[in-house]
Amino acid sequence: MTARILVMPGDGVGPEICREAVRVLEALVNDHGLDIELHEALVGGAAIDAEGDPLPESSLAAAREADAIVFGSIGGPAWDGLERAKRPESGLLRLRSELGLFANLRPAILYPQLAHASALKPEVVSGLDIMIVRELTGGIYFGQPAGHGTDEAGRREAWNTMRYNDAEIERIGRTAFNIARARGGRLCSVDKANVLDVSQLWRDVMNETAVDYPDVELSHMYVDNAAMQLVRAPKQFDTVVTTNLFGDILSDAAAMLTGSIGMLPSASMDANGKGLYEPVHGSAPDIAGQGLANPLAAILSVAMMLRYTLDRSDLADKVEAAVGYALDRGLRTRDIMNQETQVASTQEMGGAIVDMLR
Ligand code: IPM
Ligand code: MG
Repeated sequence: MTARILVMPGDGVGPEICREAVRVLEALVNDHGLDIELHEALVGGAAIDAEGDPLPESSLAAAREADAIVFGSIGGPAWDGLERAKRPESGLLRLRSELGLFANLRPAILYPQLAHASALKPEVVSGLDIMIVRELTGGIYFGQPAGHGTDEAGRREAWNTMRYNDAEIERIGRTAFNIARARGGRLCSVDKANVLDVSQLWRDVMNETAVDYPDVELSHMYVDNAAMQLVRAPKQFDTVVTTNLFGDILSDAAAMLTGSIGMLPSASMDANGKGLYEPVHGSAPDIAGQGLANPLAAILSVAMMLRYTLDRSDLADKVEAAVGYALDRGLRTRDIMNQETQVASTQEMGGAIVDMLR
């Protein structure tokens, strides 16, 4: 059956990197029999400008109908002054929530060709291969009560609630155990159980769930220590599972271990294999529209889509191999370049991947 793919380019560098991701998909359709149809919808600031809403009803409907979404990036200074519900970020959060995309997979892999780009010593990061599994539709991002007001003394105050029930924890736990089982067999659950009740429940449920995965070695770590260990000795981690907020922070740190956040893809999955695939990097408004952005995170997100939603690991392997060849040949966008390499534009990098797929 033909899979329906929705492209949501968004803002900043989103459109230009999505264009390269789409070229890769088109090459797979033409030369490798990939059976998809492509659609496009507005999201983020682009949707605010056109329709006054970061996630218009028509875009949400298109996203519901799609089997998978290729997402660019959203946000920028033009929309930062708006009230929270109208900002681009709210569109993305609503999309995650409405589609039930609870499992966010963020791999941090160091390409040997890019070891120089990491701020850490090569021996600390060489061979790095971590998978962060972040809970994406609960916790403090969505917990109620949340709001702001004024107390009896007239002081302004604001509050959010970090809240999880056992079913939400077990659900992301099972996803993470299954991923760990298919990788190195080790799962580290990150929490703040020394202080937070919600973290104690998280830890209890992870321990209960572990009974069904005797072949996976479960460990626990406090989030402050995890942040430190990630930059001290990152290779100790195989698969990490954590909450929405902690995962947001730790995945940015893990991304930078690899030298450039411009290389890293992510998948946000529902319970039935539907996914939203997006680069970990943001909209980078400072370099938007100049052909400087690295399209590899978007292209590698397409590889994740091929693997996790479209069941075409064969093609995912091809795309990932093409990225490796491009790096071997010395192609570098500005974010990953060094003295010995020449700068490639967004389009040149995308074009090189397309050529290698033929
Ligand atoms: C991310 C981003 C988002 C988040 C923002 C843009 C709402 O930082 O995907 O990590 O906090 O989840
Ligand atoms: Mg983030």
